[in-house]
Amino acid sequence: MNSSELRTASDLISKASRVVSFSGAGLSAESGVATFRDANTQGVWTKFDPMKLASPQGFQDDPKLVIDWYADRRRYVAQAQPNAAHVALASRGEMQHITQNVDDLLIRAGVDPDILIQLHGTIASDHCHDLCGYEEAINLSDPPSLHACPRCGGSMRPSVVWFGESLLPEAWNKAEQACIECDVLLVIGTSAEVYPAAGLLDLSKSNGATIIIVNTESSGASHLADLELTGNAGEIIPHLLR
Ligand code: OAD
Repeated sequence: MNSSELRTASDLISKASRVVSFSGAGLSAESGVATFRDANTQGVWTKFDPMKLASPQGFQDDPKLVIDWYADRRRYVAQAQPNAAHVALASRGEMQHITQNVDDLLIRAGVDPDILIQLHGTIASDHCHDLCGYEEAINLSDPPSLHACPRCGGSMRPSVVWFGESLLPEAWNKAEQACIECDVLLVIGTSAEVYPAAGLLDLSKSNGATIIIVNTESSGASHLADLELTGNAGEIIPHLLR
């Protein structure tokens, strides 16, 4: 950690009137939740085919495989604890949070669910894949197996955005607004390779925000960074938001 860069970034954040965080799987890595693309840390998509496990086609082909895989992830997340970065983000008031993460660790750290934008949805609920509108909250410690929608008999599935699906318009509109209006966008632990989410960083930059990146390595967003802090989020974020 470069301490002069850390001080500069911390000053920028404390002087800004609107700070927004934009996080990815790296935020939860120190809680033990696997990232998607890190070859060295066994990223999820280096071991599993996302088209089989996280796409409407995959669900149609083998719904049990998909639901069982999510059940394992749900149990795993239930056992994970928020790390120091989640806690520091939750402790700083007046900050909006956009995350690509479908876990509930920011919420368990204390972030108000009303100000958290989960761009890719959440594993803490299921909804009817046949879009009758039925939803149910999920106990992550005791996740359901494949089951039918009690309202219409369709298939229940996790409320996450799969490859090939659109983001929820409400979440997207709020995220765009936040990225346009912020002075500082704090980008934490994302490869910034998945669109449209990663496009929010360009949007923020082109609207004049200072982009501060915290990542263990360079990412698809490095070229946008005004300041890039290299290291673990759990070590850097608490210092940055002190
Ligand atoms: P990735 O796995 O693509 O990227 C994780 C990033 O976190 C990498 O750039 C790592 O260098 C960084 N990283 C790892 N450990 C870290 C740590 N302790 N501190 C800071 N940074 C760390 O994950 P995402 O960018 O979140 O989508 O992936 C985006 C989307 O792709 C996910 O939301 C998911 C996935 O497919 C859906 O599920 C729809």
